[in-house]
Amino acid sequence: MLEYSPGLAGVPAARSKISSLDGTKGILEYRGIRIETLAEKSHFIETAYLLLFGKLPTAPELTRFDQDLRNHRRIKYRIVDLIKCLPENGHPMDALQAAVAALGMFYPDKDVLDPKIQYISAVRLIAKLPTIVAAYTRLRRGDDHIQPRDDLGTTENFLYMLSGKVPDKVVSEILDICLILHAEHTMNASTFSGLVTASTLADPYTVISSAVGTLEGPLHGGANERVLTMLEEIGSVEKVRPYIEAKIKAKERIMGMGHRVYKVKDPRATILQGLSKRLFKHVGTSPLYEIAVEMEKIVEEHLSDKKVYPNVDFYSGILYQAMGIEPDSFTPIFAMARVSGWLAHAIEQVQDNHIFRPKEIYEGNRAQDYVPISNR
Ligand code: ACO
Repeated sequence: MLEYSPGLAGVPAARSKISSLDGTKGILEYRGIRIETLAEKSHFIETAYLLLFGKLPTAPELTRFDQDLRNHRRIKYRIVDLIKCLPENGHPMDALQAAVAALGMFYPDKDVLDPKIQYISAVRLIAKLPTIVAAYTRLRRGDDHIQPRDDLGTTENFLYMLSGKVPDKVVSEILDICLILHAEHTMNASTFSGLVTASTLADPYTVISSAVGTLEGPLHGGANERVLTMLEEIGSVEKVRPYIEAKIKAKERIMGMGHRVYKVKDPRATILQGLSKRLFKHVGTSPLYEIAVEMEKIVEEHLSDKKVYPNVDFYSGILYQAMGIEPDSFTPIFAMARVSGWLAHAIEQVQDNHIFRPKEIYEGNRAQDYVPISNR
């Protein structure tokens, strides 16, 4: 008898050298380096290199990678046209998924085992995702698309493409750390989805569009946007307790809380909480922060026996909102970072590939007669 594990919980789906996490100690490492160290000392482009190529780059390697990324930020005017044709009230994750899938038609990088193809498609995807996200944000409200500037760093350029203004250094540095924190996270739903697609030897754009689609759901990356809606709905610190107690009584999920693997507070949530305090000193505080802190306290009172604590999505939305970013762009920003982890896994997968073909336990009828339509 096959043992069924709902949600494949506890079932290894790959051997990997990319990242590891200890859910009881709250330790996350990329290629063996603690997330706290990377958040303090690295920057997103260097971390993306580390994830993709398995080591920290030397100075010339980093310069080349960074330059290649800057050179590939622009998107073709037909991709801009495609984005213009999308409904303005659609979700930016759907726009991102559609535009990423379309990129594959412009860059037929089909030989997915060729390291040169792996490199150039990774560069294109990491470089172009922020441009697509910014383009949809502006075009859907009737503003012009702003071309990327290659003299600006990754997050500086992204914020510039959103608003037309070069942002404050502190703000772009904090956003860069947010990208490091979201760049990779072992075998989660979107990474698995990307791996299944990669295992068919589909091109990298198709792989990433699969992963983007999976990240969108409210139980995965889509939770960050819903956390903000929930905090706004609650509106004040005094209303947190009745809100949470009613949710728990109704057996409803509290967004931004709980994790399949972490049984303590997610280390990324701790770093993001610290970053929000740093950001508030600069841009002014957010009233939602106090509500979030109170919520963390009350959830701990009620759900610590179930080991439900804040996850990465709990504080990120408060930070992004304080940077002036619209809530439905939070998950696309997650994708802009996670694309590096997804690609690292896809490259690892095709090096020793087996197409994914799990089993199912059939529980339906057998040996049924075909009943003619007139007799049904
Ligand atoms: N709110 C209330 N109770 C919760 C929550 C929550 N957010 N998360 C887990 N629980 C409770 C469950 O009700 C369950 O209780 P029970 O044993 O009495 O039935 C118990 O904790 C265990 O929950 P599971 O569903 O078994 O945990 P699982 O590992 O399957 O779920 C998940 C993990 C999906 C992330 C869940 O915690 C959740 O839905 N969280 C809210 C959505 C969210 O924030 N998602 C983002 C996750 S991080 C990311 O993907 C980037």
